[in-house]
Amino acid sequence: MAPKAPYILLGAGGGIVPNSSPEEMASLLKHIQTLPVPIYGIDTAGVYPMPDPGLSERVLGKAGIGETPLILDTKILVGQTVDSSNGGALSKVNLQKSMDKSLEQLKVKKVRVIYAHQPDTQTSVAEAVEGFGKILKDGKAESWGVSNFSAAQVEEYAAEAKKQGVPLPTLYQGQYNAIFRSPEEDLFPVLKKHGIKFYAYSPTAGGFLSTKVAASDGAELPSRFQAGHRAADRMNAKYNKPKTRAALVSLHKVAEAQGIDLLGASLRWLAYHSPLGEGDGIILGASKVEQIDHSDGEIAKGPLPEDIVAEYEKLWAVAKGEEGS
Ligand SMILES: NC(=O)c1ccc[n+]([C@@H]2O[C@H](COP(=O)([O-])OP(=O)(O)OC[C@H]3O[C@@H](n4cnc5c(N)ncnc54)[C@H](OP(=O)(O)O)[C@@H]3O)[C@@H](O)[C@H]2O)c1
Repeated sequence: MAPKAPYILLGAGGGIVPNSSPEEMASLLKHIQTLPVPIYGIDTAGVYPMPDPGLSERVLGKAGIGETPLILDTKILVGQTVDSSNGGALSKVNLQKSMDKSLEQLKVKKVRVIYAHQPDTQTSVAEAVEGFGKILKDGKAESWGVSNFSAAQVEEYAAEAKKQGVPLPTLYQGQYNAIFRSPEEDLFPVLKKHGIKFYAYSPTAGGFLSTKVAASDGAELPSRFQAGHRAADRMNAKYNKPKTRAALVSLHKVAEAQGIDLLGASLRWLAYHSPLGEGDGIILGASKVEQIDHSDGEIAKGPLPEDIVAEYEKLWAVAKGEEGS
């Protein structure tokens, strides 16, 4: 039997969740609980999906997420969706309004975790922490988390929470995968120090860590990397680099010779060979049910052979060298 994987959640950032009808979503919510590695719940946000903020929460609400045993995490509104006349995203008023809107859309009385989706430099740390403390006191979330914060910002928030007697954030949500492992250096030690668990988003680097990309040496790319997609420039600049692609092609050849799928191996690396441990999580992204089934089935296969793990170390050494270039 495979060792216990970190918590697996399904992300509602784009793809299948906002593109489902409430009926389709209700049946998907049942389906994900039956998979070999159970999917424990849903990660959403007030702003998902970017072109139509709120749609993911509304679909989940209409599908009856609150009636299921699934974990439900969401995030405070950011960017264009913030009412700037009330200050920044984490100001006293905006924080409570965003929380209430999410609960209304999700048709639930509380969520498991409410995250600050990103830092808000307009609002003082003291005001933001007080706001999260109020949400907890009002019983609207079991705990709170932060996402996309620097290690220094986590330290600042943790110190302020201690000062105010507000419980510390329980979760940090950040980008982390086999070709983006920088959080290991500065962020993970700070999280460990404060007992904050890490949930990894973009576990397959937007689908870049896949057989399709490696077998075609980048001639075939996932949707987010293709011309015309609003994220294409950002995704290509971050991941689609010549030396990293060449290292991915080599890794794929070694994996393929052993009948190992590259996307599955990248998820297995994250689940069983990265520093992620008990209480940490992986947030899957998918545009189709088949992708969820495939990813989950791959994680269920357990740890990778040692030579493949060694190939992942080589891949990271190359990707790290190209970071920022
Ligand atoms: N806190 C934050 O700021 C933040 C930021 C980003 C994401 N997130 C959360 O994390 C979740 C997941 O992130 P992500 O979407 O970036 O994850 P990801 O795994 O890096 O990318 C998902 C994409 O990879 C491809 N893919 C995934 N599984 C596949 C499979 N089995 N076979 C073939 N292709 C597959 C699909 O591409 P195609 O669409 O081309 O089919 C899919 O849309 C989001 O939904 C959201 O909940 C949070």
